[in-house]
Amino acid sequence: MAKDADRSATLSIGETTIDLPIMSPSLGPDVLDIRKLYAQGDVFTFDPGFTSTASCESDITYIDGDKGELLYRGYPIDQLAENSHFLEVCYLLLYGELPSAQELNKFETLVTRHTMLHEQMTNFFRGFRRDAHPMAIVCGVVGAMSAFYHDSTDISDAHQREVATVRLVAKLPTIVAWAYNYHTGRPLVYPRNDLDYAANFLHMCFSVPCEEYKVNPILSRAMDRIFTLHADHEQNASTSTVRLAGSSGANPFACIAAGVACLWGPAHGGANEAALSMLREIGTVDRIPEYIKKSQDKNDSFRLMGFGHRVYKSYDPRAKVMQETAKEVLELLGVEDNPTLQVAQELEKIALSDPYFIEKKLYPNVDFYSGIILDAMGFPTTMFTPIFALARTVGWISQWKEMIADPSMKIGRPRQLYTGATHRNYVNVEDR
Ligand code: ACO
Repeated sequence: MAKDADRSATLSIGETTIDLPIMSPSLGPDVLDIRKLYAQGDVFTFDPGFTSTASCESDITYIDGDKGELLYRGYPIDQLAENSHFLEVCYLLLYGELPSAQELNKFETLVTRHTMLHEQMTNFFRGFRRDAHPMAIVCGVVGAMSAFYHDSTDISDAHQREVATVRLVAKLPTIVAWAYNYHTGRPLVYPRNDLDYAANFLHMCFSVPCEEYKVNPILSRAMDRIFTLHADHEQNASTSTVRLAGSSGANPFACIAAGVACLWGPAHGGANEAALSMLREIGTVDRIPEYIKKSQDKNDSFRLMGFGHRVYKSYDPRAKVMQETAKEVLELLGVEDNPTLQVAQELEKIALSDPYFIEKKLYPNVDFYSGIILDAMGFPTTMFTPIFALARTVGWISQWKEMIADPSMKIGRPRQLYTGATHRNYVNVEDR
């Protein structure tokens, strides 16, 4: 719980004076409590894009955008990426503490034993067009989980919420891999319980029935890192969407499907796909200045994809880990001289010394390098955002659970600044 600071702000509107309590978070700037503002002052606040508005209390993830710091339950992301692994991070996000060896073992077993999908769900995949974007399939199939797992849709039952949580974390890799299998015309590959979470995902994506597929541990480690780095990011657009959908009492599968839909956009989860397409379009280092110029032209809507962030006004700490992982993976695959990586490295160097980018505090974000790694692993660009969705599911569900367990939860219902027509009377069609 946030503490009330022993301070308040005073707002004067005409003759009325309103005291606004100030709340102190455990980290980050103080927060003005405006909950009684409308009742006391008959005014709303105006904050499109929520640039200055805290929509909830949360003790899951903390970002310091100026320092370029990201903490999951207090632990720095670089320490987790280096020393932990995705399922341990899932446990941390979901339950608040790092697990004991026994708790971790139990959780890993639980997730591993729930990776299969109801067999009838294969019909859903087959119902899509082969050329459907995998994100469209993932969005549809995650939503359809509520039609198959009725026994975990009662949000007032803590046990059912727990079952839905494990189902979502466990089944998302299968759904995403099957979207890919189907999209590429290959058989749907079943999960294997002897593999860890990331290795099993690679197995489901890349193995075929006619030969043995051995998962390379460096690649599965890189995959695991990508999952860890994308696991949560406090109240971003898709997480806020999950919370808003959940605030009406919608079931968790419907809420996560809403999150998947929001993540799809190029300003959010779709940026890694857009970043790689841009790097390929640039093609060679000598064309970089042309693109830098384009991105700064007010009359051109082009932006350097993978650059800039609503919260980070410094280097995205996830991008640093990604950059190192990209080097490791490309070295392993013997493609260090990959032209896309060369363009990326040079572009980063030029952008970081360009006054426009310095002044606007535009740094590479996590998507800048993740696309290069996924591409080198053999994923088509259409799979980048579904992989992000897979990883972010644990963050969405942690945030959703936190909200549902909060006794003060209310339906999310923003106000507006209405600028439309004032009252007018209906005119019959023949008189218009
Ligand atoms: N290239 C060039 N200029 C940019 C870029 C960019 N990538 N990003 C922002 N700017 C400029 C804007 O034109 C604007 O300039 P102005 O002040 O002269 O009008 C200024 O920087 C501020 O930009 P806003 O759009 O107001 O910043 P906002 O916080 O709303 O947007 C966003 C953040 C959406 C991420 C933006 O930087 C962007 O579009 N980046 C490219 C897409 C991308 O990489 N998204 C991934 C985000 S990370 C994630 O979802 C995991």
